[in-house]
Amino acid sequence: MSNRIAKRILGGLMLTIVAFSGAGVGAGTGAALAAGGGDAAMHETARQHWSWGGMFGRFDKAQLQRGFQVYKEVCSACHGLKRVYFRNLAEPGGPGFPIERVKALAKTYEVDDGPNDEGDMFKRPGLLSDTIVPPFPNDNAARSANGGALPPDLSLITRARDVHTDVPFYMVPWNFLRNVLTGYQEGGADYTYALLVQYHETPPKGVTVAEGMYYNATFPGNQIAMPPPLSKEDPFKYQDGSGTIEKNAADVTAFLAWAANPELEQRKKMGLMVMIYMLIMTILLYLAKRRIWAKVEH
Ligand code: HEC
Repeated sequence: MSNRIAKRILGGLMLTIVAFSGAGVGAGTGAALAAGGGDAAMHETARQHWSWGGMFGRFDKAQLQRGFQVYKEVCSACHGLKRVYFRNLAEPGGPGFPIERVKALAKTYEVDDGPNDEGDMFKRPGLLSDTIVPPFPNDNAARSANGGALPPDLSLITRARDVHTDVPFYMVPWNFLRNVLTGYQEGGADYTYALLVQYHETPPKGVTVAEGMYYNATFPGNQIAMPPPLSKEDPFKYQDGSGTIEKNAADVTAFLAWAANPELEQRKKMGLMVMIYMLIMTILLYLAKRRIWAKVEH
């Protein structure tokens, strides 16, 4: 008798695990699979603790606001953010700046518009409905200002990058399983953070760095055309006077992760509801099954 109950409990548990891991794979999609382990290569791309990681993760509004400041004061000299509208900066689930401040900020930018009645293009102050104005008018201008290298638009960068590993995921099954079960999808953020803090002034012995390039332990190939944007000795200082390179890097990465996933909080909330729904369904189906089969003779 007790054996039968134990079996049933086990069966129910298995069902729940399958349901949960199924949802986990769905949510983690490619990131979870691609980031599946590989400690050999991952020692350079250490995992950070991100507030928006995991099932209950949410963005930290204050961090997003600081991150936007770092982007604006440092990165926006070279990188555009063409998929982010000024109004997004005031929307819930993001940095949530007061709308009046964002309006005033947009006004400080010059936007190309037109043609007007005479058929001429003209410039006007930015509006909430404009995207953040890129630093260069086109890719060629961006390249020519950066020694031939193109600073990519950062709107989707945390999705476009991931921790890279030389070891196939099935060689480190525990890592893989952990990534699937925890719905790991912060690989792009971990990479971006590591990229920003992993510059080395003197490359390791035997490595020569080409003219105009910089040694970076995280960038594939280790030579990057981006000069170190953040500095250990002279970090970007926030309004309260604090700031370290690690904090600058983490904040701007968080901001970029939001820019690439503005719907993240909504999605996670919905995911949680779906899980609860599935759990209730599982219980109901189990009870219904018991009822239906109760009168069947063994
Ligand atoms: C002086 C110009 C300049 C500044 C300032 C700058 N970058 Fe870059 N960035 C570049 C260039 C050029 C590249 C392309 C590098 C290459 O392909 O070798 C690049 C590439 C990148 C990449 C892509 C790396 C990859 O994997 O392909 C990221 C991410 C990035 N920058 C983030 C930032 C962030 C965040 C900041 C601000 C903290 C910043 N950058 C500031 C010029 C700049």
